[in-house]
Amino acid sequence: MERRAFLRDAGIVLASVVAALGGAPGRAAALSVKFGRALARHGSELTYPIPAEDGAQIDHTNEVIVVRYRQKAYAFNLACPHQNTALRWQPEDGQFQCPKHHSRYQPDGVFVSGRATRGMDRFALRRDGGNLIVDVSKFFKQDANPAEWAAAVVAL
Ligand code: FES
Repeated sequence: MERRAFLRDAGIVLASVVAALGGAPGRAAALSVKFGRALARHGSELTYPIPAEDGAQIDHTNEVIVVRYRQKAYAFNLACPHQNTALRWQPEDGQFQCPKHHSRYQPDGVFVSGRATRGMDRFALRRDGGNLIVDVSKFFKQDANPAEWAAAVVAL
């Protein structure tokens, strides 16, 4: 195959893979965002409904963000892991962003750019029927608790 044709075909394949994965690396499709409190609280455990589609629920009262993203659910601390500023969802680029120093994170909490040095902090969670039970007493930092941080996910 001629070199130019090979490079063209390789580019088409790469573009198809990126499209299949939902866009360019570090970027995500738009997620719906809702604001609301937990359905219930029992001790350190908060109950949230499993989002019906990819999206985030931001609970300012309990400082928790619940995310459904690509058939997985996560619960994050609302505070930025750099200096604890409340994170915001940026619908235009499909990422969480810190308004203070502009660190950015994917919907699964993976760090993208900025002054932070780790991903968004996660809480332990489990599924209970149509709900997620988030235990805010079990708090994991990606750098200090990498195994627990990676395991703090519910497959849907
Ligand atoms: S407080 Fe979030 S990047 Fe500094």
